[in-house]
Amino acid sequence: MLVLSVLSGLVLAGPAVAIVSQDGTGRLPAMGWNSWNEYGCDIKDSDFIKVGELLISLGLKDVGYEYVNIDDCWSDKEKRRDPTTKEILPDEAKFPQGISHTAEVIHSLGLKLGIYSDAGTDTCGGYAGSLGYEEIDAASFSSWGVDYLKYDNCNVPTEFFDEYEYVPEGPNTDAPIGYDWGTSKTAKRYNAMRDALLKQNRTIQYSLCAWGHAHVEQWGNNTGHSWRMWGDIMPAWEGKSEWSWGLMPIVNQASFLWNATDFWGHNDWDMLEVGNGNLTIEENRSHFALWCMLKSPLIIGTRLDTIEKPILDILSNKELIAFNQDPVYGASAMPLKWGYNEDGTSDMVHPAEYWVGTSVKGLHLFMLNTQDKTVKMQVQFNSIPALRHRANAEYLVHNMWTGKDLGRFRGKIALDVAPHDTAALRITTIYGRHPRPEWTP
Ligand SMILES: *[C@@H]1O[C@H](CO)[C@@H](O)[C@H](O)[C@H]1NC(C)=O
Ligand SMILES: *[C@@H]1O[C@H](CO)[C@@H](O)[C@H](O)[C@H]1NC(C)=O
Ligand SMILES: *[C@@H]1O[C@H](CO)[C@@H](O)[C@H](O)[C@H]1NC(C)=O
Ligand SMILES: *[C@@H]1O[C@H](CO)[C@@H](O)[C@H](O)[C@H]1NC(C)=O
Ligand SMILES: *[C@@H]1O[C@H](CO)[C@@H](O)[C@H](O)[C@H]1NC(C)=O
Repeated sequence: MLVLSVLSGLVLAGPAVAIVSQDGTGRLPAMGWNSWNEYGCDIKDSDFIKVGELLISLGLKDVGYEYVNIDDCWSDKEKRRDPTTKEILPDEAKFPQGISHTAEVIHSLGLKLGIYSDAGTDTCGGYAGSLGYEEIDAASFSSWGVDYLKYDNCNVPTEFFDEYEYVPEGPNTDAPIGYDWGTSKTAKRYNAMRDALLKQNRTIQYSLCAWGHAHVEQWGNNTGHSWRMWGDIMPAWEGKSEWSWGLMPIVNQASFLWNATDFWGHNDWDMLEVGNGNLTIEENRSHFALWCMLKSPLIIGTRLDTIEKPILDILSNKELIAFNQDPVYGASAMPLKWGYNEDGTSDMVHPAEYWVGTSVKGLHLFMLNTQDKTVKMQVQFNSIPALRHRANAEYLVHNMWTGKDLGRFRGKIALDVAPHDTAALRITTIYGRHPRPEWTP
């Protein structure tokens, strides 16, 4: 199948021309699994094949997970590149038959294979990076049968440092008003790999791992299919540890920049930690609901061979996945109000708690309890923009977690929400119709 994306479109582009491929790759948030959160560098060919088989036997492929992604540490750390062709050499101990063998088996399972590289001299783990080798590496990935590239941001040489620095966690130096971050050297490093990928005769989903630097949300849609928005995630509710962050600081950033997402280009709030660390069941649940609601890529990061039923159930929730993968409405849910804080407050413990979005099934309300105690959370229907026209009507409210209707409500909906849990609700007319299909966030 021919795959050529609209390179000419990109070159001629005004703002917001995404990498639109004929087969639809990247139109919706990617769904899959990645080795990093549980395996780190301790990876080998057979791990990925086993994961592919488990995605099928656990029913995860059936609900949409399709990418099996190799993260850092897959190449030969000593030899790095072939001395003549300069191609990156896979680690023969980890991948004895090369990456193309892994790809072949993964494809035979009806799944897709992802790989990892870095827009610097070395990856974060110190393996060969792709800066300056974009065309050679894109050609290798394509010839091996790779379908997805996560492109990291470590080890950038000084001549590629940005003129103005923007790191979302700050502090930052000020850029001139109106500065176009799409001209930054960060954008140039990522665009070089985009151009190399577009020259290949293969669709490769392009996942920018630029950590929100250089305001990637302003130019990412011209460059790739998704872009990381913050430092690394860790399996904790709040706080930070070195360069990794808990869930609430990430949701705080999303409270302000949720709107950079739409079809073909997605804010990436990082891979899922559902099932990892010391999250409670409510926190595991909130994590998944929030990432679905934000239209983030859904990349599982937990071990599948020992996965527990409650975790599998969360990752398999069809209604939340359907919201994330909606074919008609591309926008993320948006904050309706902050709740705990005054609207618009930046708070890494108590971000926006009340969110509304829309799908082909109806209007959706997500209520996140950021407090350590059970809270009665409530919303007046007349405060929801999409319902203002019929604020006094009766609505049918449905619980997306249980798949059951909660009943009819008039005036407002109020529910007790457990500490750190998220109520995920669908609101329709009492006949089950969308109350206002023309509204979007
Ligand atoms: C990204 O680009 C696509 C394709 O051009 C467009 O449909 C979408 O609205 C853009 N996203 C945003 C947030 O502007
Ligand atoms: C592109 O790949 C397809 C099959 O994947 C093949 O049929 C076609 O000949 C290739 N085109 C070029 C220009 O290599
Ligand atoms: C998102 O909202 C901000 C603040 O309102 C605005 O400056 C920005 O242009 C919006 N972005 C998009 C892609 O609509
Ligand atoms: C959330 O995930 C972690 C890891 O499996 C687990 O420790 C915690 O208990 C989970 N919640 C469950 C399964 O209730
Ligand atoms: C979870 O782990 C983090 C960091 O390891 C720790 O700060 C926090 O207290 C732990 N939470 C619980 C509930 O054990």
